[in-house]
Amino acid sequence: MRRKLAAGNWKMNGTRQATAQARDIANHPAPDIDVLLCPPATLLAAFADLPINTGGQDCHMMTSGAHTGDLSADMLADAGAAYTLTGHSERRTDHAETDTIVNAKSVAAHNAGLIAVICIGETLAQREANETLAVIDSQLAGSVPDTATAANTVIAYEPVWAIGTGKVPTLDQIGEVHSHIRAHLAKRFDDADGFRILYGGSVKASNANDIFAIDNVDGALVGGASLTAADFTPIMDALGAS
Ligand code: PGA
Repeated sequence: MRRKLAAGNWKMNGTRQATAQARDIANHPAPDIDVLLCPPATLLAAFADLPINTGGQDCHMMTSGAHTGDLSADMLADAGAAYTLTGHSERRTDHAETDTIVNAKSVAAHNAGLIAVICIGETLAQREANETLAVIDSQLAGSVPDTATAANTVIAYEPVWAIGTGKVPTLDQIGEVHSHIRAHLAKRFDDADGFRILYGGSVKASNANDIFAIDNVDGALVGGASLTAADFTPIMDALGAS
């Protein structure tokens, strides 16, 4: 059985004041699921004592060195993180991260003992050109390293056009991509059945129940609706009940 995961990606939001929200999220009873918050790295240490998993939003592919402004996976682990995102579409766009780079970052995460949440997803132009499954295949092939196992890797399917827009694919479209991801993983990994596959992109309390009822949706990666306990805890509850 795959343990479900409710993951919050705070992006470039939150100062120490936001610790109160994280505490409320962490203290919300959620015995049947894993909960993860990925705050800005400046808050990892402040959240380390909370009864919750924390994660980075990105890591460098190297363990140390002359890379001003970057953070290694070891540093994230040292600050209390158990996970890190890799290959979020905002990194791919803002920082020109390729599948090769995402792959190397995911290996670095594994080497540091972190669970890599590897993000993939098509743009609107790709969906409209009927290229979604081909894009997913090539991102999976390029971004997911051979070091991946069900224990150290989570896949997050996030259509770029659904992130922060309020637009969500149909339930059939989500189900199609998630089962395609599972089938793709099965060609490469003996433990493909154990990988958790998250949906991300405008998840909120009002659509969570429907999304979590889809086959092969093992949780969500949530941006905007993870910033407050009032928004995120109903999503946690919906996942726990699914
Ligand atoms: P959103 O972001 O929930 O605000 O759409 C999701 C994400 O980018 O992980």
